[in-house]
Amino acid sequence: MDGIRLIGFMCLLSFCGCLDGAIIGPNEPVEQIIQSTWNNLELNSDLDLTTPEIIEKAGYSTETHTVITEDGYILTLHRIPGGNGSLPVLLVHGSFNDDSVWITLGKGKALAYLLADQGYDVWLANMRGTTYSKKHITLSSSDWKFWDFSFHEEGMYDVPAMITYITNMRSQPLHAYIGHSMGTSSFYVTATERPKFARMVKMMINFGPAVFINHMRSPLRPVLYLIKEFQSLLRVLFHDELFPQEFYNTLKTLLGCNLNFYRAEMCAKNLLFNPLGYDPEQLNLTQLPFIVSHIPVAVSLKTVIHIVQMIESGTPRPFDYGAAKNFLVYKSVEPPEYNQSSIANIPTAIYYGDNDLFISPIDVKMLYDILPNVIDMYEVPWPNFNHLDFVFGNDAPKLLYERVLKIMKEKYSNNVLTV
Ligand SMILES: *[C@@H]1O[C@H](CO)[C@@H](O)[C@H](O)[C@H]1NC(C)=O
Ligand SMILES: *[C@@H]1O[C@H](CO)[C@@H](O)[C@H](O)[C@H]1NC(C)=O
Ligand SMILES: *[C@@H]1O[C@H](CO)[C@@H](O)[C@H](O)[C@H]1NC(C)=O
Repeated sequence: MDGIRLIGFMCLLSFCGCLDGAIIGPNEPVEQIIQSTWNNLELNSDLDLTTPEIIEKAGYSTETHTVITEDGYILTLHRIPGGNGSLPVLLVHGSFNDDSVWITLGKGKALAYLLADQGYDVWLANMRGTTYSKKHITLSSSDWKFWDFSFHEEGMYDVPAMITYITNMRSQPLHAYIGHSMGTSSFYVTATERPKFARMVKMMINFGPAVFINHMRSPLRPVLYLIKEFQSLLRVLFHDELFPQEFYNTLKTLLGCNLNFYRAEMCAKNLLFNPLGYDPEQLNLTQLPFIVSHIPVAVSLKTVIHIVQMIESGTPRPFDYGAAKNFLVYKSVEPPEYNQSSIANIPTAIYYGDNDLFISPIDVKMLYDILPNVIDMYEVPWPNFNHLDFVFGNDAPKLLYERVLKIMKEKYSNNVLTV
């Protein structure tokens, strides 16, 4: 078994080798390669810190809460508590991320801190399977069964559990749910399949929403297809976890992102710009080591396959198990689409970037067309704004957060809103 695992692992690495070559490309100008001056970097000391440790270091108090979902996952919420009258907001990260993305930009810039500075009660979600949410009441994260989920289950169980926990504790609705990428897909599932829970949220804010995704322009698109193609092999190798940390470490080395063989510009290009959109002006290279030491984090194989299915079908719908099992699960040969007419009528704001290779403006427009109550639809006014600039963009505070904070305050701060 170990032999098979090793051979398969090497095969996958060679795919990544292809990926690496394809990503760098033969025509790229010779790069200035910044060799590791790593040990001298001041930020070095932050790299191994957990989210609460980083928050404390930034001078905020923090609490850790755990929430158990109906299907037994034990999720971690990190909180920067507001005062007694404060309005609770929940920030939900995307796939391959955890809640560290909301604090990466640091004090005075990162959205979590800006919200805390404005007096909000800030809650950071960690979805099942990610860094701080790898526990289950009966399963271990090395079990296949643990990884048998996609954003569908996150929307059915994780989002309702977190919303319920916060609203019970604060005895008031959640003022806003702010989701990035897959953090919006799961909310879409909640809003259509469990609208009762979505209605406990007064406002939904989408950053690069991943609901319609079939105009994805990223070079990762063929890689996602490849993962779907080789799912049986991956299942044997990794027990449905994509990927174990040692795999990411090897991948980071190939991409120039291993901090012992660090090549800043190559790493930025491979890890962020080529897959997500070229935007060097928004990336603070000083923060890159922090970024690469925190992402990517594992997702489930089922998540990736579900993403590919959504690209292929062009419409958001539950997981396609194939005709026979579909018939057992859904009583139909094809999975039924999420019921758009039952979607909770929540005030929704949508923010997107023209150079977001994952979420094309065409797909964003499709989402806009089906949502019943869009209060703000805004293309971030920076032509190169990419999929991760929503959380890592150096000018995100000016280009995006200012507007978001204003929307949250002006229209919905007075509790008179009825959904
Ligand atoms: C907040 O409320 C709690 C419980 O009602 C109370 O003990 C505490 O003093 C209050 N804190 C502030 C800052 O008002
Ligand atoms: C880049 O990040 C570092 C560390 O967070 C910060 O000190 C510096 O001011 C940032 N540079 C810019 C241009 O924002
Ligand atoms: C979709 O939701 C609407 C409104 O709740 C309901 O009337 C309708 O029966 C649902 N359709 C299906 C196929 O479940």
